[in-house]
Amino acid sequence: MDTEIFVLQEYIDNKILSEHDKEKIKKAADILRNGGLVAFPTETVYGLGGNALLNTASAAIYKAKGRPSDNPLIVHISTIEELGPLVKKIPKEAELLAEKYWPGPLTMIFEKADIVPYETTGGLDTVAVRMPSHSVAAELIRQAGLPVAAPSANVSGRPSPTTAAHCIEDLTGRVDAIIDGGSADIGVESSIVDLSGERPILLRPGAVTIEMLRDTLGMEIGMDAALKGPLRDGERPKAPGMKYRHYAPKAPMTLIVGDNTVAFLEKILAMSNESKSPMLLCTSELIDEIKGLGEKIPENVRVMLLGSRNNPKGIAAMLFDALRETDAENADMILAEGISEDHIGMAVMNRMKKAAGWKIDRI
Ligand code: TXA
Ligand code: MG
Repeated sequence: MDTEIFVLQEYIDNKILSEHDKEKIKKAADILRNGGLVAFPTETVYGLGGNALLNTASAAIYKAKGRPSDNPLIVHISTIEELGPLVKKIPKEAELLAEKYWPGPLTMIFEKADIVPYETTGGLDTVAVRMPSHSVAAELIRQAGLPVAAPSANVSGRPSPTTAAHCIEDLTGRVDAIIDGGSADIGVESSIVDLSGERPILLRPGAVTIEMLRDTLGMEIGMDAALKGPLRDGERPKAPGMKYRHYAPKAPMTLIVGDNTVAFLEKILAMSNESKSPMLLCTSELIDEIKGLGEKIPENVRVMLLGSRNNPKGIAAMLFDALRETDAENADMILAEGISEDHIGMAVMNRMKKAAGWKIDRI
């Protein structure tokens, strides 16, 4: 299959959609209407879109991603009016959250209406819905005139794509088109909250944080077991996708948590001795603290700076690119510095824990 690349140069340069860009989006929307697949930017990560109401389009998405078909897709809409027909009922909590956070990086789980095919929901009676705020995503959905099923546009098991280059790397020859709209702003996937049960439960942390959800709803938010630790045999996460070892770099990664710089340095020195191609993912503060001890990081350890601890949003924005880079650099052992789990830090740490396969050293 030939993959067409639509570069929205004017949008990339000015963040405003020109008529010229909109014409390219129209071509992509035509592909979706004809049952084809298009990768497109959203404010979280790039999505791989198909017609959510067409079972063959959803089946094609699973095939292109190499994704197990029991892992349901998120349905993307561009106006609140599109929600009603997709779901059995809209709980009061969903109304409050939609008003506050849509369009934006929040996905909500509802009981599904009959028109949503089981191919889209991975056989579940519930459906995940999100209204993205990214202008390109919104314009694509609007022009297609249909709800767009879109998982992250990576090959299953790789970190989610935050640039068109990542999509091109993973999906060339597997999809009809890729829209290049520059880098995704947030860099981690949407928060997912399940409203189909008795009380709201967070299934995946994202940029709409648990603190924000708690404030808006004025109630405690539950946390799915998959967020707390590795699942035991027979334990099932509410979001089927959370059971897979996502975001995994090829090399084994250990997440270091705690503020004992001396102990961290010892681990770095041990890695430097043991490994041929060691890599350290850390904040600029760690480097300063090691310098402050009058020590330095051994030369064979490649350092990938994630930015400052005081800027967790910046860390979220570059995390997946950094994880992909560890593969590109052929790292054979990785140490990564953990950060505070407050606010968007919970999303960053969730992705890091999964990337590390829950191998966490507390110092
Ligand atoms: O930010 C995002 O959400 C991106 C962009 C493209 O919108 N999409 C995304 O989709 O991350 P995906 O497929 O990579 O992750 C969807 C997650 C999976 O863990 C899946 O199991 C869960 O959502 N999910 C989807 N439908 C569900 C449902 N009905 N019940 C529980 N979990 C569901
Ligand atoms: Mg994904």
